Parts: sequence; structure tokens; C-alpha cells
Amino acid sequence: MEMKSVELAPGVHWVGAIDWNLREYHGYTLPGTTYNAYLVRGEKTALIDGAYHGFEKEVLGRIRSVCDPAEIDCIVVNHIEMDHSGTLPEFVRRMPGTPIYCTARAKAGLARHYDTTGWEIRVVRSGDTLDLGGKTLTFLEAPMLHWPDSMFTYLGEDAILFPNDAFGQHVASSARFDDELGIDAAMAHAKKFFANLIIPLAPKVLKKLDEVGKLAIDIRMIAPSHGIIWRSHAGEILKAYTDWSHGVSKDKVTIVYDTMHGSTTMLAKAIAEGVMAEGVDLRVCLLRDGRYLTAKKIGCGFGSHGGMGGAVARIEEALKEAGIEVIDGGFHVNYRPDEDELTRAYELGRRVAQEIRAR
Ligand code: FEO
Repeated sequence: MEMKSVELAPGVHWVGAIDWNLREYHGYTLPGTTYNAYLVRGEKTALIDGAYHGFEKEVLGRIRSVCDPAEIDCIVVNHIEMDHSGTLPEFVRRMPGTPIYCTARAKAGLARHYDTTGWEIRVVRSGDTLDLGGKTLTFLEAPMLHWPDSMFTYLGEDAILFPNDAFGQHVASSARFDDELGIDAAMAHAKKFFANLIIPLAPKVLKKLDEVGKLAIDIRMIAPSHGIIWRSHAGEILKAYTDWSHGVSKDKVTIVYDTMHGSTTMLAKAIAEGVMAEGVDLRVCLLRDGRYLTAKKIGCGFGSHGGMGGAVARIEEALKEAGIEVIDGGFHVNYRPDEDELTRAYELGRRVAQEIRAR
């Protein structure tokens, strides 16, 4: 069977894999995903990123629709998490001696995941370039976006940014581009991805966006390592990342909770009733469902059980670190909440909603 690649620009091809069946990853429920790898062909050919172990045949099949894998002169590893590096051992086995370009942290990380003996790893830093002959790759370290090893690669001639996980979305689709999937769906998937992976790192996103802005480089296309490629709406996703990182969102309460026996569900529903009584938009998330958090103010800090209280405290810590305001409910109940406790929960919902409306 012939696998197909997709052309982004002359000499630039998507050669990734589609994982139709992945339902749980990065802490939330997803409709599959893609592991995007790219070929950039000048006089020399570079492969950017890879896929999970098990997708070697699919990626190699798509590469073969463009060129013989033996023609690959170098591999760029923007990020070593296994969903992108899992195919690397097989690629190195098939293309021994092919230089691998990555950050120093990525080199150290690769050695902890794989036996890298004999791998030709070349460490790059921000501003380093790789001349492919007619195509030039420039590297930009992006630590903690979202791992210490992460980096972006920029293809100057075609103004394409390969930022790995940043600007990605977990979605499996026959669409490769934003204008094929539709901007609304693409943004919804990107927002969910941002909220689950990137939101605790928002200050670093702003710093990196500022850094990229100062480089005054043209970015016509953003080709992340998951989901669709931003071909027609690169400006919108850049702006959305800026807004989301600043915490710009509509006033909304998100109630995050977990429950052992349904008692906390009763509290959460009582709080929700209080919020709705004040006419403020609302989302209720059972923690284990891993839904995303995009509200800028969160009311939580309640629990019906010692263990759940601990979980809520950890959620609060994470939210505070992410710069999301936590309005603490601050009460604890044991076993089934009684009428008084449900009334307190309802009043908490009203108070949170009123505070949000007042600002
Ligand atoms: Fe898509 Fe951080 O892995």
C-alpha cells in the first residue's frame, strides 16, 4: 500500500502518522491524534521529528512517497518525548551515522531513554543554523515548552515554524491544514491542548513569543507536531496563545472536583446552582475526566473526604502557579453533606459568581 505525504511548500512535506485510536494522553480524553514529522528538502534532506514507537512503517512509508529514506542527510529532534522520538532508534538503525540535531538537554534525555551508543548527536543552541542548500533551518531553544529539551526549528525560505508541541492539538483527522478542518474546530482543539499542557507554562509562552517577535521573522505557517498545520490562520493561533497566556478569557467559573462516593458531586452541584443563580457562565469538571480549564477565576477548595481534599489542594497549587485566581471555598464535610452544608456550597457558588461579575 502506498502511503501519502502532503506538501506544505515546495520541498517541504508532512510525513507523519495518524493515531486514530488514542483516547487518553496528556491527561485528557482525545479523539485520536497525529504525530507530525516533516521532510525539508534542499540540496540536502532533513527529517524533522518522528512518532511513537510502532509507527515506524507509517512514517517511513510516507517518506518513501517523497524520497528514499537513505537520502535523509540529517534528523532534527525538537523534543524527545516518546510520541516524537519513539521511531528514532529504528531510523538510526536504518540510517546509521545520520547526524541528529537537538539541544544539550535533549541529548542527555535521549541517552536516558535509549542506548545512544554510536548515535551521531550534534548539540545546537538558539541561533544556530543548518544550511541544507536552498533551505536553511534555524534553531531556537524553547525550554519548558513544554519539556526542558524542547526547541523550535524555523525554515526561513518558506517562513515555516516547526514548534513541536507548541500550537499543537490532539485530533485525528484526514485534514492536514487549519482551513481543511475548519478554524473553529482547530481553535477548539488547540485551546484544549493549551489548557492541558501549556497553561502552567504561560509566562514562558509569553517570553518565548516576545523573543520570537524580536527576531522580526516572518511566520507564514506553523507546523506543530500534533494535529493540523496552521496554514491560513497562523496569526490567529499566535494571538490566541498570547491571549490565553495572559489569562484573557470570558468570565466563567470552572468547578473542579473529584469524588469517591458522590458526596462531593452533591457539593459541586450545589455550588453550580449558586453560580447559575447569579447568571455567570459555568463549567463543572470531574477531575478524572481531565477536562480543560480555561476560566480565569476558579472557585474550589472543598471536599467531602480527606483524600479528595488533598487532591483539591494540589489542584489549587497548580492553578496558583499558573496565575489563575483561586477563590477558596474553605470547608470540608464528611460523608453525605447535610442541608446546611449544601446551602453553604450554594452560597459559595453565588459569592464566587458575584466576585467575578464585580470585576
Ligand atoms: Fe507531543 Fe511533549 O510530546
